[in-house]
Amino acid sequence: MAKKVLVSGGAGYIGSHVTVELINAGYEVVVADNMSNCDMTCFEGVKKIVGRDDIPFYQIDCCDYQAVDKLFTEQKIDAVIHFAAFKAVGESVAEPIKYYRNNLVSFLNILEVSQKHGGCNVLFSSSATVYGEAEKLPVTEESPRLPATSPYGNTKQMCEDILRDVVAATAGLSADGEGPVKGIALRYFNPIGAHPSALIGELPRGVPNNLVPFITQTAIGKRECLSIFGNDYPTEDGTCLRDYIDVVDLAKAHVAAVSRMLDGKMKKDYEIFNIGTGRPVSVYELVTAFEKVNGLKLNYKFAPRRPGDVVAIWADTALANDELGWKAERTVEETLASAWAWEKHLAGK
Ligand code: UFG
Repeated sequence: MAKKVLVSGGAGYIGSHVTVELINAGYEVVVADNMSNCDMTCFEGVKKIVGRDDIPFYQIDCCDYQAVDKLFTEQKIDAVIHFAAFKAVGESVAEPIKYYRNNLVSFLNILEVSQKHGGCNVLFSSSATVYGEAEKLPVTEESPRLPATSPYGNTKQMCEDILRDVVAATAGLSADGEGPVKGIALRYFNPIGAHPSALIGELPRGVPNNLVPFITQTAIGKRECLSIFGNDYPTEDGTCLRDYIDVVDLAKAHVAAVSRMLDGKMKKDYEIFNIGTGRPVSVYELVTAFEKVNGLKLNYKFAPRRPGDVVAIWADTALANDELGWKAERTVEETLASAWAWEKHLAGK
């Protein structure tokens, strides 16, 4: 029988792409989402892409322990991929309590319920933000985590630690129906792009914080001009360097990690993997590549640096490549074309 994977936050940007890839790989998927930062567009898109109308969907908040417990009672969950969290860096600085409560309580509930229902495999969506302004590039999983510069980043570090501790405490557990929790944290670099079908993608609310949605919204005319934050950084063209990972490639990394857990291939009960391409791309290069691949001119200007930005970060992907048997495949051009196709799809063009 197919193994069942709960995707919390499964109606969101990354969650919807992961749901598609899990179903394509033969897993049963249960989606849970409180719809606090999305609408049904992506879930409807997922159903169209996989040609199924029967994906179990729970509109619940993972901060509601009873609701999570009920879901685990109704569904025999073999693994959880936990996305359900807030992710806006600036907002987390302004509203730390909201961020700590939501991101920590929801994850604690997932872990407690996982343990209670006979144990589970838990995949946590972490971030390269845990590395801060790394001294040595590219960063490996052994690179030091630096003190977080925002409550958002802090919740990622804290949830990694919570997962590590719960895994250690529950190893070998088999009391009263309880069981061990095994865990993988995936540290994403900068996820961008959309599904090639253009039926699912990023749906930012209000003014986008992230670069690619700001680019596509400027190109479609929703925003007047892209500001490139800083062109006096110590890089070749003066703009920041990031490791932009295609969202479908990222989704496939989740399938590889879940399979590793479910097939008993983990080397330790708690593992961490960097998920990126291993290639640094500057903001300016990305903007130029977007213009070129989509045959358009973007209205942009250079603006002051954005507080809190690191100069450069990219991944050493050797561990993920070797251990997960996974590698990023789509080129940045393909990804930027998919982001533009998605923006046009949203505009009905
Ligand atoms: N940028 C611009 N103009 C914009 C938006 C972004 O020039 O309008 C620049 C930023 O200054 C940065 C680069 O584009 O140099 C990427 O910025 P994003 O906001 O897209 O991504 P970040 O690297 O800042 O943040 C991402 C995730 C966060 C995570 C962080 C560190 O969105 O969730 O990586 O891992 F915390």
